[in-house]
Amino acid sequence: MRMAVLLPLAAAVALATVSGPALAAGDAAAGEQVFKKMCTACHSIEPGVNKTGPSLDGVYGRKAGSYDFPRYKGLVGADFTWNSENLNEYLSNPKAFVIAHTANKNTAMTFSLKNEQQREDVIAYLKQESEAK
Ligand code: HEC
Repeated sequence: MRMAVLLPLAAAVALATVSGPALAAGDAAAGEQVFKKMCTACHSIEPGVNKTGPSLDGVYGRKAGSYDFPRYKGLVGADFTWNSENLNEYLSNPKAFVIAHTANKNTAMTFSLKNEQQREDVIAYLKQESEAK
């Protein structure tokens, strides 16, 4: 079962390596699998369902740190809206992102997604889910 998920991911990574630094747009279907594996411990995509992290319902195009979620830390007072570029930077290193782009010094999100293709894919998934509303 696990291999069935991992093999296409490995293929996607191999392809990304061959095609060089200019990554193709993310694949939302692959991104849904990334989300299920790596994000659902702390996030739901369902409206109003907060876990350790805020619900990511409609997060693409939403003002950062603006959900009805009492435990924001690094995103308190953020004055930007989530798009592909800043999500990519945030997911690769949430703490560095918060230090660079807010007045805060740390983040409550203790997870970073190092694989660039997986970031592109999960961002495509979040965008698709947000635009389906
Ligand atoms: C260990 C728990 C944890 C994991 C795993 C995690 N997050 Fe988070 N996430 C958080 C927390 C907590 C915050 C609030 C951060 C803050 O304010 O410092 C957050 C914030 C966010 C935000 C900003 C939300 C907003 O309302 O502005 C996005 C986007 C996000 N996470 C995406 C993801 C994605 C995509 C994944 C999987 C690749 C992921 N997170 C994995 C805990 C987590």
